[in-house]
Amino acid sequence: MAAAVLHILGIETSCDETAAAVIRRNADGSGEIVSNIVLSQIADHAPYGGVVPEIAARVHIKHLDHLIAQAMDEAGLAFPMLDGVAATAGPGLLGGVIIGFTTAKAIAMAHGKPLLAINHLEGHALTPRLLELCPFPYLLLLISGGHTQFQLVEGVGRYRRLGTTIDDALGEAFDKTAKLLGLGYPGGPLVEQYARKGNARRFDFPRPLKGRKDCNFSFSGLKTAVREAVNDLGHLSEQDIADVCASFEVAVAETLQDRLKMAFAIFQEAHPEARAPALIVAGGVAANMTLKTVLASSAQEHGFKLIVPPASLCTDNAAMIAWAGAERLTLGLVDDLNFVARARWPLDEVSTPIYGSGKLGAKV
Ligand code: KG4
Ligand code: ZN
Repeated sequence: MAAAVLHILGIETSCDETAAAVIRRNADGSGEIVSNIVLSQIADHAPYGGVVPEIAARVHIKHLDHLIAQAMDEAGLAFPMLDGVAATAGPGLLGGVIIGFTTAKAIAMAHGKPLLAINHLEGHALTPRLLELCPFPYLLLLISGGHTQFQLVEGVGRYRRLGTTIDDALGEAFDKTAKLLGLGYPGGPLVEQYARKGNARRFDFPRPLKGRKDCNFSFSGLKTAVREAVNDLGHLSEQDIADVCASFEVAVAETLQDRLKMAFAIFQEAHPEARAPALIVAGGVAANMTLKTVLASSAQEHGFKLIVPPASLCTDNAAMIAWAGAERLTLGLVDDLNFVARARWPLDEVSTPIYGSGKLGAKV
């Protein structure tokens, strides 16, 4: 398809953010966010200590229409002026995915626009190209509440999973640690805050899979070690909480460092020609400053350029979905109105399924 300026509406409803955005893809391949609206449902789920699928679906239904209207308004566009409608079609909580994807189908059908069924993980994987002209191939580390994986991104629609978690996702490990310590939800930011005041050497928590010759992750043993330490302490002082958080965070940091070393080596073997390739980090856990520092020094040591998109684009949003839609539309990869939404949808469809690598209904 000839390069042209494209305006794409994006819709994201796969977990606990209801989001709508419009992006522009310029003829030279650069991107711009024209409008980007995200309604976080954290307050609706916080009393339950995690995302409740039925509540998520109800909140999506209540807000999606007016968020789309607002995104179009802010962009100064009417539906007939769009070049395509993109929505997350999986993986995620199926009720929510169906709400967003069916809405996209309706708009596409009513206005005769191309429909783009987007894999949510592809949205995360292509985000850096919305911000800068980031060439393929690059290495993606996705660390969110539902996924922890390395992907080798070789092109639009060309992904190779290099490693994944065999049990809990990293964000989930942060959230469970916070829960064991009686902190709130989501736990990641609270664990980070406490860790700043703690002694990271007080507890010797495990560094799971350290030294293994692949780049998979496992966090359930770390969670068990935290639970045992908390049980042994009995009553928890503020200092105890801070020390557990700091010791947990340093165990995670060293684990990431070790797994990254393997991922860099696998990447370089697959693409020896790549000069100063990028390591892209996405997902809510990428907001953690301690981990970011470790990632930056590891990347530098191995000749990779670290790119961490701003937090608003690292966490779930619709601009990344619209952008993935623009990249696909440019290549003529349009979807049928009978495309069926999916709870499970690995980005690398030929990779061997691993328990925990794409949990049904998992937050991703
Ligand atoms: O990407 P995200 O907003 O949602 C999805 O999972 O899709 O990620 C949320 C996860 C939660 O588990 C949260 O605890 C974690 O990211 N998180 C953090 C931090 N901020 C958010 N984990 C560690 N440190 C943080 N500062
Ligand atoms: Zn996500």
